Amino acid sequence: MYKDSKIYIAGHTGLLGSAILKVLKEDKYTNIVVRTHKELDLTNISQVETFFEKEKPEYIFLCAGKVGGIIANKSFPADFLHINLAIQDNIFELANRYEVKNVVFYGSSCTYPKLCEQPMKEEYWLTGELEQTSLAYASAKISGIVACKSYNSQYNTNRFIALIPNSIYGINDNFDLENSHVLSALIKRFDDAKNNNLDKVTLWGSGTPRREFIFSEDIAKASIFAIKNSDKLKNRHYNIGSGVDYSIKELAECISKVIGYKAKIEWDTSKPDGTPKKLLGSSKFLNLGWNPKVEFMDGLNITYNWYKEKYGK
Ligand SMILES: NC(=O)c1ccc[n+]([C@@H]2O[C@H](COP(=O)([O-])OP(=O)(O)OC[C@H]3O[C@@H](n4cnc5c(N)ncnc54)[C@H](OP(=O)(O)O)[C@@H]3O)[C@@H](O)[C@H]2O)c1
Repeated sequence: MYKDSKIYIAGHTGLLGSAILKVLKEDKYTNIVVRTHKELDLTNISQVETFFEKEKPEYIFLCAGKVGGIIANKSFPADFLHINLAIQDNIFELANRYEVKNVVFYGSSCTYPKLCEQPMKEEYWLTGELEQTSLAYASAKISGIVACKSYNSQYNTNRFIALIPNSIYGINDNFDLENSHVLSALIKRFDDAKNNNLDKVTLWGSGTPRREFIFSEDIAKASIFAIKNSDKLKNRHYNIGSGVDYSIKELAECISKVIGYKAKIEWDTSKPDGTPKKLLGSSKFLNLGWNPKVEFMDGLNITYNWYKEKYGK
């Protein structure tokens, strides 16, 4: 990938897409193409065809999709399935037809079995029952990973790169409680408690499930690294995590520290916990020579400072 290669970031306004845009600009890439959702609905094949005909991108980071936490996944499973399937199907087919050099696709750790052996290695994929609350989203992501492998093998190419990041956080994360993931939801809850002088915060579940978090710019850098090293990649998916997991209780303590507000935590155990532990085994990708750089507390500070700037008091 050259500095003047034409690079399309699909979903550049989102958490990951905006991090990729930032990192590419910092790295002095000059020929980046973006479209907002309003300008280009990626579920619409004729709009996608017109876009490819006009722009002919050489590289694509496919960050557009429908993403959300447990509540959103339970409420809108058909949307999670349809929107993600349609976007990836349109982009993959057109990228193949127009001979795009590389497309980076992002799977999800929820495509691993709910009770998977830990850390979850690539070879444990599809070896057991999935978590039911995210089944529709996970099914779309499984199809995306299968599509990457299928196009590569049928067309004898290494065009499609399938990465499985664990929970991403950072600037431009979603803080709306109906749609957010656990980390951004906890930032909002603790910040609200601070602003309203509440002495108690109620959080979902038991606080015992363990999750692995990775800063968005680390995934952005891993994605660029993957393209630059695409000749070394096998036709398989690669996990990318930070290598450290935290219980939700520990996460709440870290966030309380970053926000500078201590409140009593009440655990609402009538709410679901989800998968007990999700730690990815990322050694295959790390062995290619990439490493995450952002320490968890530093990433949390960056995210919270951005949140304060954007949402104020
Ligand atoms: N967040 C995570 O923890 C995580 C973990 C593993 C994998 N991933 C994957 O990484 C990718 C990026 O996730 P993210 O968290 O960055 O998502 P995000 O913040 O929700 O961003 C999604 C982006 O896609 C755009 N978009 C949605 N529907 C579209 C459509 N029909 N046409 C065009 N654009 C559309 C959104 O624009 P609007 O907002 O304007 O609709 C937004 O720019 C997704 O594939 C996700 O599954 C995410």
